Amino acid sequence: MSSASRPEQDRPRMSITRLQEMKADGEPIVMVTAYDFPSAQVADEVGVDMVLVGDSAADTILGYDSTVPVGMDEMVMLAKAVRRGLKTAFLVGDLPFGSYEASDELAIASAQKMVKEAGCDAIKLEGGGTSAARAAAIVKAGIPVVGHVGLTPQTATALGGFKAQGRTADRAIKVAEDAIALDQAGCFAVVFEAVPEAVAEMIAAKIEAITIGIGAGNATDAQVLVLFDLIGLNEGFMAKFAKRFANVRAEMRSGVEAYVSEVREKSFPGPEHVYSVDPETLDTLRKRLNREDLESHSYFESNSSWDWEPLA
Ligand code: KIV
Repeated sequence: MSSASRPEQDRPRMSITRLQEMKADGEPIVMVTAYDFPSAQVADEVGVDMVLVGDSAADTILGYDSTVPVGMDEMVMLAKAVRRGLKTAFLVGDLPFGSYEASDELAIASAQKMVKEAGCDAIKLEGGGTSAARAAAIVKAGIPVVGHVGLTPQTATALGGFKAQGRTADRAIKVAEDAIALDQAGCFAVVFEAVPEAVAEMIAAKIEAITIGIGAGNATDAQVLVLFDLIGLNEGFMAKFAKRFANVRAEMRSGVEAYVSEVREKSFPGPEHVYSVDPETLDTLRKRLNREDLESHSYFESNSSWDWEPLA
């Protein structure tokens, strides 16, 4: 029985061993990127296997113009909120740009922060080359690592912008080299972003790690999408692979519009939204709010310059 089809209360907490079994059995693994408590609750309730607190939070919910500016403290705060919303899903925290590249020590310290402070089960970092060395150091320190190849948003400028990767032989070989380096570094999973399906399939066959696709077709073991993209909460540019499964922004907009007009026309709050009070209490309050009565109160004696009008 797949984890999603089990009743919520019977689902065991997701583990790397279970994810590896799913890969071996050819059972699709479902992952989403989420950044907040209610989103995490919904993902968990419907049986999502893995949740990533991605640095895409930077542009998706924090209003930055790319993923580069988001910092470690912001990521930890978001990851803590997601942790509180999850019961069974496996939680991965993204290491933001600048939090792991400079040295193994920095990479280990940042990964430990994600695990110790935010309660993540694993961390993710981007790229091959030096990043593979950092991944090896983090794995050696006892923290599971997810790699990320193809379109790596933190270094998109160096890749020529937000474009599909691996569409020429040279670029495809580079994606393969990065994925193999991360696999050899001990990453238990690798994200393939914006890579042709056939290229992802060929490389996936050469590595042991669980392959997670986003814009990489159907040959990977897992699929990941940003939750706010798939529910249609975001506006603006959407990548080719970001299918909308709902239109929450339209629903949200019409709810807020209805609120605005009901407040303006004074039909909200209605009788069902107000608290009642017994007449004696009101009477006592009315007497206390009477000017003479207030002026006899010591507090108002000491503020005698105030010019209060009785409220009723
Ligand atoms: O930051 C993110 O959300 C990601 C996923 C798109 C894989 O890296």
